[in-house]
Amino acid sequence: MRISVIGCGYLGAVHAAAMASIGHEVVGIDVDAAKIEALSRGEAPFFEPGLDEILRSGVESEQLRFTTDASAAAGATVHFIAVGTPQTKDGDAADLTYVMAAVRALIPHLSPGDIVAGKSTVPVGTAEELAELIAPTGAVLVWNPEFLREGWAVKDTLDPDRLVVGVPATADGERAAELLKEVYHPALAKGTPYIVTNYATAELVKVAANAFLATKISFINAMAEIAEVTGADVTKLADAIGHDARIGRRFLGAGIGFGGGCLPKDIRAFAARAEQLGRGESVAFLREVDAINLRRRDRAVQLVVDALGGNVFGKRVTVLGAAFKPHSDDVRDSPALDAAVRLKGLVADVTVTDPEAIHNAQRVHPQLTYVHDRDEAMRDADALLVVTEWDEYRRELDPGHATGLVKGRVVIDGRNCLDPVSWRAAGWSYYGMGRP
Ligand code: UGA
Repeated sequence: MRISVIGCGYLGAVHAAAMASIGHEVVGIDVDAAKIEALSRGEAPFFEPGLDEILRSGVESEQLRFTTDASAAAGATVHFIAVGTPQTKDGDAADLTYVMAAVRALIPHLSPGDIVAGKSTVPVGTAEELAELIAPTGAVLVWNPEFLREGWAVKDTLDPDRLVVGVPATADGERAAELLKEVYHPALAKGTPYIVTNYATAELVKVAANAFLATKISFINAMAEIAEVTGADVTKLADAIGHDARIGRRFLGAGIGFGGGCLPKDIRAFAARAEQLGRGESVAFLREVDAINLRRRDRAVQLVVDALGGNVFGKRVTVLGAAFKPHSDDVRDSPALDAAVRLKGLVADVTVTDPEAIHNAQRVHPQLTYVHDRDEAMRDADALLVVTEWDEYRRELDPGHATGLVKGRVVIDGRNCLDPVSWRAAGWSYYGMGRP
C-alpha cells in the first residue's frame, strides 16, 4: 500500500521505516531539511537500536523515501500524522501547532477516500476538530495512537501489544478500520489485538496508558519516601508487591523518577485538558504524581550533598548517565541531566558521561563538563552518581575496578540498579533511593 508519514521525528521516522520493512511503499515528509537528508541516506538522526538497519534497507530497495515536499503525499492511500505535541511554553497544555500545520499542509494533496491516521498524542477532542477540517476533501480521519517506547521503538512498532483505531460511526469509518488492518497485516496475523473505538476513546487510551505508567512509577517513589524515614527497602517492597499478578513488577523501579519527551508532558497536558472539560478533579492526582516525581530529583541531589558532608562546593562529582533512560540518546526532561545541572548550581565540579547522549546533552547544557570514556570520567571523583541504568554502569562497572580510579569511595545509586552488598564489601559508602 502507498503510505505517507508526515513528521519524521522519533515517531514518524520509526513508523515510516517499519511500514516500508513490511512491504509498503512509504514516503516520509518533514519540514526539517537536515533530518530529511540524513534519513534519505539511510541514517537515523537519533540513536535507536535496529532503526539504521531498516532505514538503510528501505532506502536501498526504494520502498522508502524522504522529502520536504508535502505534495509527495498525493497518491498515498493512508497518511499518518506523526508530528510532536510538546508542552506549551507558558502552561501545561499540549502545543498543537505542529499537528495543525501538518494537517493543513496535507489537505491540498488529499483525494476522496484517502485515510488520514493521527498517531500523535493529542488532547481528547482534537480528532473531532481535525475530522471537520479535512471533511471537504472527502478523506476520512482515524485516530491510531502509538505506544512505542524509545529504545524498543522498532520492535514496538512491528510487534505492538495492541492496535487501537478510533473511527467515526459511519460506513466510511468502518471501511477505514478495515483498510488499516491491511496496513498492519503482519502484526494482526500474529494475533495482536485490534481495538476499534470512537475518536475520544482512542485519544484517551494513549494518555490514560501514559498516566497509568507515570502513576505506577510515582506510587513506588512515594513508597521510597516512606521507606527513607522507616528503614524499609523499597526494592524488596516492589519485588514483594510485584509478585501479585494484579500489580506486576514492571514500572515499579523506584529511583530518580521519570523523564523524557512523553510521560511528564503527557500527564500535564491530560490534567490541563480535564480542567478545560470541567473534570479537573478526576485527574487531580496527576499533579501529585508530577510533584512526587520532581521531588525525587531533589532527593538524589540531597543524597550527594549529605554523602559529601553537607557541601559539594568544589567537590568532584561524576554523573553516570545523561539520557532519560538507557538505550536512548534522548535528554528531554532527563532526570539525570537535571541532577547534574543542579549539582553544578551548587558549585560542585561536575563531570557527566553517557554512552550515547553526550552530544545531545552538550547542546542543551554546554556549561557541564562531558567525558566520553567512563573510566576517564570517574578519575579522581569524590563521589559517583548513577542516574541512567546503562549496562556499562549497572552490570559492567565493578566496584573493585572503580576503587582504583576515584578519590572518594562514595556512590549514590539514583536508579537502585547497583548491588549494595558488593559495593559496600569493596569499601564504598553506598546510598540508594529508598533503600537502607
Ligand atoms: C513512554 C511509554 O512507555 C510508551 O508506551 C509511550 O508510547 C511513549 O512514552 C510515548 O508516549 O511516546 P518512553 O518515554 O520511551 O515511553 O519511556 P518509558 O520506558 O516509559 O520510561 C519513561 C521514564 O520512566 C524513564 O525516565 C524511565 O527511566 C522511568 N522509569 C521507568 C522509572 O523511573 N521507573 C520504572 O520502573 C520505569
